[in-house]
Amino acid sequence: MLGYLGPNGSGKSTTVKMLTGLLQPTRGQVLFEGRDIQSDLVSYRKRLGYVPEAANLYPLLTGQEYLEMVGTFRAMSLAQMKSKISSLLELFSLFAHRHVSLGSYSKGMRQRILLIAALMDNPDVLILDEPLSGLDVTSVLIFKNLIQAFSALGKGVFYCSHILEVVEKVCSQLLILRSGHVIAYGSTEDVRRRIGQSSLERIFLELGEDADVVKVANEIVDVVVAPS
Ligand SMILES: Nc1ncnc2c1ncn2[C@@H]1O[C@H](COP(=O)(O)OP(=O)(O)OP(=O)(O)O)[C@@H](O)[C@H]1O
Ligand SMILES: [Mg+2]
Repeated sequence: MLGYLGPNGSGKSTTVKMLTGLLQPTRGQVLFEGRDIQSDLVSYRKRLGYVPEAANLYPLLTGQEYLEMVGTFRAMSLAQMKSKISSLLELFSLFAHRHVSLGSYSKGMRQRILLIAALMDNPDVLILDEPLSGLDVTSVLIFKNLIQAFSALGKGVFYCSHILEVVEKVCSQLLILRSGHVIAYGSTEDVRRRIGQSSLERIFLELGEDADVVKVANEIVDVVVAPS
């Protein structure tokens, strides 16, 4: 379970787009089980579950219709698809909303639909780009436990986030990125030990951002309240 951290614009989502084959790297290759993913993108993607940073869900489809569309694209058998969808809708507390259009779902409900879409075909690798966006406390707790159980099955998780508190708790490896460059990489304990700080929040601030947060915040307020 790799936690992929970095400030805004550091290249997390760009990495994810290359890992999922949506973007061609200008240099280098993405290898999966020793093979370039471009050699058979369809079979490779069948093994992935992907929660994108910003998904354009079809607002006129119901939750159930959207998941059936995903299952069809993934060439799941009809019986398998139907049973996974109804069980997962139930477990993600969306069963009662399954015939409601996605356009009227709340932010957290849409995020839960994306998680189901990523999980329903039993992927070997989960790629998550800010997966907790908009989730409430209960959903976050379920999610944290869920990805730990998923990883205990020997599956891979690539987890992009700013929420250090979560990443620190669930990931075995950490990578910190700044301006497209890796500035720290290793086991969660190693990264923390190397930096010599107890809080990952501090490591992130020191390695990832030089900004004096209090000063910047005060300057923003000064500008906002300044008389015109
Ligand atoms: N194909 C590309 N070629 C060159 N630059 C790109 C390309 N795609 C994205 N970028 C740039 O790379 C930078 C990193 O963007 P990216 O979306 O990966 O950041 P991020 O780490 O996910 O940030 P956030 O935390 O805001 O989600 C941005 O400045 C973006 O404009
Ligand atoms: Mg991003």
